[in-house]
Amino acid sequence: MRLAVCCVLASVCALLLNSRVCHAIRWLALAKTDPSMPFNQTQNCKHLQGLVSAQQQLCRSNLHLMQSIIQAAREVKKTCQKTFSDMRWNCSAIELAPYFSPDLERGTRESAFVYALSAAAISHTIAKACTSGDLPGCSCGPMASEAPGPGFRWGGCNDNLNYGIVLGSKFSDSPMKMKKSGSQANKLMNLHNSEVGRQALKASLEIKCKCHGVSGSCSVKTCWKGLQDLGTIAQDLKLKYLSATRVVHRPVGTRKQLVPKDIDVRPISENELVYLQSSPDFCTKNEKLGSNGTQERQCNKTSNGSDSCTLMCCGRGYNPYMEKLVERCHCKYHWCCYVTCKKCERIVERYVCK
Ligand SMILES: *[C@@H]1O[C@H](CO)[C@@H](O)[C@H](O)[C@H]1NC(C)=O
Ligand SMILES: *[C@@H]1O[C@H](CO)[C@@H](O)[C@H](O)[C@H]1NC(C)=O
Ligand SMILES: *[C@@H]1O[C@H](CO)[C@@H](O)[C@H](O)[C@H]1NC(C)=O
Ligand SMILES: *[C@@H]1O[C@H](CO)[C@@H](O)[C@H](O)[C@H]1NC(C)=O
Ligand SMILES: *[C@@H]1O[C@H](CO)[C@@H](O)[C@H](O)[C@H]1NC(C)=O
Repeated sequence: MRLAVCCVLASVCALLLNSRVCHAIRWLALAKTDPSMPFNQTQNCKHLQGLVSAQQQLCRSNLHLMQSIIQAAREVKKTCQKTFSDMRWNCSAIELAPYFSPDLERGTRESAFVYALSAAAISHTIAKACTSGDLPGCSCGPMASEAPGPGFRWGGCNDNLNYGIVLGSKFSDSPMKMKKSGSQANKLMNLHNSEVGRQALKASLEIKCKCHGVSGSCSVKTCWKGLQDLGTIAQDLKLKYLSATRVVHRPVGTRKQLVPKDIDVRPISENELVYLQSSPDFCTKNEKLGSNGTQERQCNKTSNGSDSCTLMCCGRGYNPYMEKLVERCHCKYHWCCYVTCKKCERIVERYVCK
């Protein structure tokens, strides 16, 4: 049996057994931080869950960043669950932070997605906080020198992607850069997948424009570079999750590297997520593998995607039940200016997996 030593809190070292690897996304536990907690003194850092000592240090020297980092942890949780709500694995395990179940502890495809999303989210929120003027250390991103096109001009505030990437990766990668943090293979995998997340974030930077001119003539457009929202980036990462590559850690030349398991002649690219351990099909409950199964999961009878009753229920069939929906209806506009509505009830049929 292999033992890995993992320093979770500055002074507490947890012994983890066997397939459990040291986890570098424990900081996602920050999602549970009391929103009213102030960050005006370094002592506040001690009360945060899931930080390694290097992250504690970053907290103490960058107190003003912490609200953004806590917000990133909340968004990772929300976005992961929304993005996977139509899948058998639905990201519920993220709520267990800082101690995860095996589906996120074993170096699986699912953990690859969560690492990528976490790295993207932390840099995203910091870049956005720069734009809204919430951080003392940064402001708008640099303006390009050439004009965006005829009739267009740069204006407004670019999202400061660079600052977000530098500070974000400093925080989220630091557990993977510690000496005692699990196997080399896992470290390489986690660092790679975090980088894939940041690449997806960079790819989401787009030119956004606003119209000006006499009575909306749009004779002048001012443009800036803005990031797409995290949900869109997560959809991109979900596609990468679906086509992720299984890798092995093996010698290539003088060093051991991660290479695709099946075709070992190709180096892995910064656009693909990689994983070391295969996942179960998540059809049935298996605590050892971190599968909750899909019994009692809602399915969609008319969909032909992954949320369809056939795929979600793995062929076991499904049970219908009735749900009462209460909706606003018969809305009336009153001069001036309010709307009144009635409440209407509607019964819909829903389905859950057997
Ligand atoms: C920090 O903020 C809290 C709550 O707003 C306040 O009670 C405390 O005095 C502040 N501490 C410092 C050092 O400013
Ligand atoms: C299983 O579901 C429960 C309740 O929703 C949740 O707390 C737990 O994290 C889930 N476990 C896994 C492995 O997804
Ligand atoms: C995820 O699935 C579990 C059962 O496996 C269910 O209890 C939970 O409500 C689901 N969570 C979401 C966010 O859909
Ligand atoms: C079920 O799937 C269909 C087709 O994708 C979609 O139009 C519908 O809104 C879904 N229903 C629910 C309850 O999610
Ligand atoms: C679902 O069915 C539609 C129409 O038949 C088809 O265009 C679409 O590709 C199907 N989607 C999947 C996931 O099979």
